[in-house]
Amino acid sequence: MVTWNEAASREEGVAQARALFTQTFGYEPEGIWSAPGRVNVIGEHVDYNGGPCLPIALPHRAYVAVARREDRTVRLVSPQTQEEVDVLDLDRVAPRGQEGEVKNWAAYLVGVAWALEQAGYGPLPGYDVALWNCVPRGGGLSSSAALECSMAVALDELAGCGLAGSADTPKEEGRKILVDACRRAENEIAGANTGGLDQTASLRCTHGHALELDCLDMSATPIPFDLAAQNLELLVIDTRAKHSLNDGQYAARRADCEEAARILGVDLLVCVKDLESALEALNEERLRMRVRHVVSEIARTRAFVDLLKEGSLEGERLKVAGALLTDSHDSLRQDYEVTCPELDVAVDAALAAGAYGARMTGGGFGGSAIALVDAGSGGGVAEAVAAAFEREGFMEPHFMIAVPEGPAGREA
Ligand code: GLA
Repeated sequence: MVTWNEAASREEGVAQARALFTQTFGYEPEGIWSAPGRVNVIGEHVDYNGGPCLPIALPHRAYVAVARREDRTVRLVSPQTQEEVDVLDLDRVAPRGQEGEVKNWAAYLVGVAWALEQAGYGPLPGYDVALWNCVPRGGGLSSSAALECSMAVALDELAGCGLAGSADTPKEEGRKILVDACRRAENEIAGANTGGLDQTASLRCTHGHALELDCLDMSATPIPFDLAAQNLELLVIDTRAKHSLNDGQYAARRADCEEAARILGVDLLVCVKDLESALEALNEERLRMRVRHVVSEIARTRAFVDLLKEGSLEGERLKVAGALLTDSHDSLRQDYEVTCPELDVAVDAALAAGAYGARMTGGGFGGSAIALVDAGSGGGVAEAVAAAFEREGFMEPHFMIAVPEGPAGREA
């Protein structure tokens, strides 16, 4: 028996957030908004290098029940993060490292208001928020982006910014502005210097599709991604190994890329046209490894997108798609050095159990892996992975089957 991490239904998420709000604050919220976590199918650690990514939004979402206040106070509650109500003053929120810095999960929910005001969408009213989140925290599935993006669409509507549109008829340009605000919240208030992949996935992915995202200009194209129709499924393995993006490792990889770009005389590594001559121009082996990952990952992602556009994943196309996923993992393991024993064992065990391809997804250093498997065989592969984890003495992994869901929007 393995542990499946089922997504709550929309109705349950809404009911939980609403009940928590009324119990805590003693009145009804003005509305409930939600935003999904994501899985990145391929294109890892390339967003901040201007390359392409291919995320899907998960059915696992963060739900916020919100009401405006007359003052500039923010009150936050979430049973999954802490017992007490957190009280903050919007006039005193400041970036990480300064007086007024905001700690923990509150940074995401208040950081978005701060970033919207910095972008000229203010002054915003204070607000009361109850958060109920079913995106596994620290699982590398963008729970922090789900928090930011649910808050962003709520504030957008409550403050009358009119940027997001609805989940069914989203305003792409407005959502790009919200992506920027959420990314700024993450970078400056929460202190994780991430690219825009996660926030874009949460705000701009659509039901039944993967999002072909070009991080050079943040243009995005939905691509049909109905694995069930191709007799396949995407197994997500949450290794439950601790994953953190603000402990210096992520920033160190990003700094390596920036240094390599500077030496190579390009703005971003996506501009490197010839890998061999770039490698020759770099003296340090560490930088060569980083560049080799980024440039090869960009090529793999483009090849994977082409395969999806050409037709259904079967026969040779399926084999090649699987190999691209596994090559991506190997590159992240050997050249980018962002995997960990749990991720490597998950990938190896999934492949040994018959997966067409498998790789870590997200930032790495823990978190989740994905495996492309035959429809209906996810359970068997999950059992093989769980058995391998037990042999290694790792924590018990959790599993889900990823089916592409819709973006952040109003629920009720
Ligand atoms: C994290 C970051 C993203 C991206 C991925 C790696 O999820 O938040 O911006 O860099 O890692 O692809």
